[in-house]
Amino acid sequence: MSAADTQALEEALEKQARLAAEITALRTRIESAADSNASPAKKQKTEPAFRFSKLLTSIKPSGTVMVFNKVKQMQAAGEKIVSLCVGEPDYPAPKEVLAATKDAVDKGMYRYTSVVGTVELREAICADLKRRKKVEYGTDEIMVSVGAKQAVFVAVLALCGPGDLVMTFAPYYVSYTEIAVMAGAEAVTVPTTPESGFEVSPEQLAQALKENPRTKMIILCNPSNPTGSVMSAELLTQYAEVLQRPENRHVLVLMDDIYEALAYDTEHGCMAAVPGMNSRCITVNGFSKSYGMTGYRLGYLAADSQIVKACAKLQGQINTCASAICQHAAVTALQTPDSWMSDMVATMRKKRDMVVAALRAMPGVKVPVVPQGAFYVMPDVSANYGKKTAAGAIINGSTDLCLHLLADYSTALVPGIAFGFDGGIRVAYATDMETLTEAMSRLHKCLAALS
Ligand SMILES: Cc1ncc(COP(=O)(O)O)c(C=O)c1O
Repeated sequence: MSAADTQALEEALEKQARLAAEITALRTRIESAADSNASPAKKQKTEPAFRFSKLLTSIKPSGTVMVFNKVKQMQAAGEKIVSLCVGEPDYPAPKEVLAATKDAVDKGMYRYTSVVGTVELREAICADLKRRKKVEYGTDEIMVSVGAKQAVFVAVLALCGPGDLVMTFAPYYVSYTEIAVMAGAEAVTVPTTPESGFEVSPEQLAQALKENPRTKMIILCNPSNPTGSVMSAELLTQYAEVLQRPENRHVLVLMDDIYEALAYDTEHGCMAAVPGMNSRCITVNGFSKSYGMTGYRLGYLAADSQIVKACAKLQGQINTCASAICQHAAVTALQTPDSWMSDMVATMRKKRDMVVAALRAMPGVKVPVVPQGAFYVMPDVSANYGKKTAAGAIINGSTDLCLHLLADYSTALVPGIAFGFDGGIRVAYATDMETLTEAMSRLHKCLAALS
């Protein structure tokens, strides 16, 4: 090795050590903020060595929940954090829904309901799906669940197990892969690129299914968390053509339509409405995002009655039924005039436009998809990787960048790696303009300071 090579190697090792020290310091700072908030009793207690299940150790904690918890802990320790990491609408639920919630209590409607949900709510869901998505379901084809996430979980658990593959497209919603693993199945992800607008072409889908013949179910999120892209009826029809080929007829599709009411310019496509797909499609939706009712924990799935029966068998053993009070309020939510949702969408569109413009003005940032739905954008920030912070640490990926942003700019975003795309970071823009402006300004400063 020449003297120059030796010197280069020494410098590289020194840089690596500096980066490792800096990341450790950042992590320690975050953890100690959390610890300082722990109760005195908890602080003194030494952790018992519990032997947790194999299932627990085989799944990753939710990346978004982890960041959210850290932010809450830092805030509780007195740090002022600007957070754009949580996927929660900032608008309140319609006032009629809040009144109906009180009404349910006053009328004593707080007992168990049928496992699949009250007839009133299932009828209202059927009517809503018929009116807005032009799909017809009977009440025996609906199961009300404790949030949309639980509907996904129960459907995967009912249909997939050891030996089966559950396919998702990256960047994906963090829970899909882990739910597949919890069911004992394997998760397989189809990668996409920023250049293709994170879209999987029908040809790519055909190829992915050919390479993974054990695929039992595909989970698609439309509009997408985390990219904000929307699959049109045309794209879904092309996917359906692939799925209807003889070799793919065993594949089921779970459409997570939880953000469906929040679509801007591209009309949201409904897979269950594509001819020939209804009986193979499980549509999941809920009240968290559309009506700002996240804490009501209410969702549903619409599917073939045999699938609903299977899911109900599991739900009956897991949580019996969703909250009776919330189900009563949800009937009112479905009567909300369309103009209410249009107002929410119009306000969200302004936030999207502001955030996209701010991101596009930042160094080394591209916005491959201008969100067409939901309230997330996933800018590609990878041109900043390999650069150094003022303290000399090298940013090697989305986790480094988000930790640096949190520790030195008190701003929380979720690393794209949590969604299977390390080149990006997820910005959740469902918050007030002041917070958005401040967060964008801090991210800009953070990126501009990298060299
Ligand atoms: C894609 C997606 N599906 C499901 C959920 C969970 O919805 P719910 O609150 O109805 O369980 C979320 C929440 O962030 C989501 O982003």
